[in-house]
Amino acid sequence: MLYENAMQAADLIREKTSYRPKIAVILGSGLGSLGEQIENADYIPYADVPHFPVSDVAGHAARFVFGKLKGREIVFMQGRFHYYEGLSMRQVCFPVYVLHLLGIRTIVITNACGGINTQFTPGDLMLIEDHINMIGANSLIGENDERFGVRFPDMTEVYDVSLRKLAMTCAEELSITLRSGVYGYFSGPCYETAAEIRAYKALGADAVGMSTVPEATAANYLGMHILGLSCITNMATGIASKAHSHEAVLAAAEKSGKVFSELLSEVLCRIPVED
Ligand code: HPA
Repeated sequence: MLYENAMQAADLIREKTSYRPKIAVILGSGLGSLGEQIENADYIPYADVPHFPVSDVAGHAARFVFGKLKGREIVFMQGRFHYYEGLSMRQVCFPVYVLHLLGIRTIVITNACGGINTQFTPGDLMLIEDHINMIGANSLIGENDERFGVRFPDMTEVYDVSLRKLAMTCAEELSITLRSGVYGYFSGPCYETAAEIRAYKALGADAVGMSTVPEATAANYLGMHILGLSCITNMATGIASKAHSHEAVLAAAEKSGKVFSELLSEVLCRIPVED
C-alpha cells in the first residue's frame, strides 16, 4: 500500500504544481525562512495531499513550497513529521517516498539539535557525518517493496561525502563556521537525561536530536544523495546548566536562521543536478 499511497500523493502534487525539482529540503524547527525566499512559489499544504499525516508541532508550517531559488527548481518542506507525535515510522517518512516518486535525487535534511561536543556553542551549524540510532525503531521496518529498494540497505555512506565537501567549501567562502559531527537520535518528546547524554557522548555522538534519522534512513534506501545540516540551538542536558524549553530552541534556531539560510542557499545552487 505504501507505494500506491505515495503514488496517489505524488499524482496530486503534480497536478498542483508544474515545477519538477530534483532537489528537496526538509526544513527543521525554526529554520523555515528560506522557504519564504522562493520566487513564484506554489504552496501545497500537507493537509491537501492524500495519505499525509497531520502534524501540529509549533514552529512547523506544514506545507510544501515549490519554486525557484536563484533560478533553480527546489521543493522545500516547511515542517516535518516526528515519531514522538505517535505516528508510525512509515508515516514519518511518507513524504520522503512521495519526493522520490516526484523525481527528487538529492535531499537536504535539516534540524535543530542539542550540542554534546563541548567545542560547539549554541548557534553553531553542523554537517552530519553519520548518525547513531539506538531507539529500538527503524523507519524501514515493515514489508519491503522492491520498487523502492532492497530489504537490507547498506548504510556505509548515508551522508554523501561530495555534498559534505561542497557544504564545507561554501561555508569557507562565506566565512561561516561549519562544524562536522555525529548526530545521535532520540525519539523525544522529552529531552534526554544527563545520563543518556553521557552515554551518547561515550558512543561518539556530537549532537542530539529528535528527527532526521528516520528520513535519512528512508532516503538512503531510496538511493537519494543526502546532506544533513544541523543547527545547534542549545547544549544538551547536563552540559547546559539550564533546563530546556521548546520556545528557547525555536528562538535560537530563528536567530541562526539568517546564516543558516545563507549557507543553505549557496549549497543548493551548487549541488550538481543529475538526470
Ligand atoms: N535534545 C533533543 N532534541 C533537541 C535538542 C536537544 O537538546 N535541542 C533541539 N532539539
